[in-house]
Amino acid sequence: MIEKFLETIKNKTNIVFFGGAGVSTESGIPDFRSVDGLYNQKYDYPPEEIISHSFFLKNPEYFYNFYRNKLICKGAKPNAAHFKLAELEKAGKLNAVVTQNIDGLHQMAGSKTVYELHGSVHRNYCMECGKFYGLDFIENSTGIPHCSCGGIVKPDVVLYEEMLDDLTVRKAVSAISGADVLIIAGTSLSVYPAAGMVRYFKGSELILINRDSTPIDDQANIVIHGKVGEVFSQIKI
Ligand code: APR
Repeated sequence: MIEKFLETIKNKTNIVFFGGAGVSTESGIPDFRSVDGLYNQKYDYPPEEIISHSFFLKNPEYFYNFYRNKLICKGAKPNAAHFKLAELEKAGKLNAVVTQNIDGLHQMAGSKTVYELHGSVHRNYCMECGKFYGLDFIENSTGIPHCSCGGIVKPDVVLYEEMLDDLTVRKAVSAISGADVLIIAGTSLSVYPAAGMVRYFKGSELILINRDSTPIDDQANIVIHGKVGEVFSQIKI
């Protein structure tokens, strides 16, 4: 199957990539639902409750303790998958990366068109005055980070119960629906509306690269159960 994948990448353009936490595990960032994932570790509350809008409002101190320790992965670097995607974009073969990840590794690897469906740890805003703060501000603060105006600074990350950014969704859907090849990688496709966006794909080649099986394996033209960084490192551009 890898040969067929490499052949497709070599011959095709108008490619879009849709990725999840599994794209960053080879950069040392755990995913969510694998056995060693974030959601299978023990906390005082269910992790998906902690990273919800209502919990953030109710218990911002506990939220930030969890967020700094578990969702900001200081020092993480892009891996082969991130770098190859940036090269494919530069070669004019890849139109966009659509990601559920908030780590910013695609941009760090050089990708220009990246639609971050769940936001980014690199963007933080005061809830009162809207002032922008970078990741370093959050990393270098303790407890609940406050703006110079006194307001609480909130990460620009889509928490459970929150809406995705409308413009980002529209751009991602437009890229997916116009693609000839859609590569889906490193995602369990279990969180909506993100996971539902892949149904807008109408092109000729649906490719799945995922360590575990996913709900749409049977719809894909090419399914590779393996590590996306390892598979992408074999691409010759
Ligand atoms: N290569 C390929 N696949 C991998 C790799 C890897 N190196 N590492 C992990 N995987 C696969 C796992 O088998 C799993 O199917 O990536 C998938 C990761 O799935 P999840 O942990 O559910 O992550 P994701 O799909 O991104 O979750 C979506 O859930 O809680 C929310 O906001 C959070 O954006 C996240 C969303």
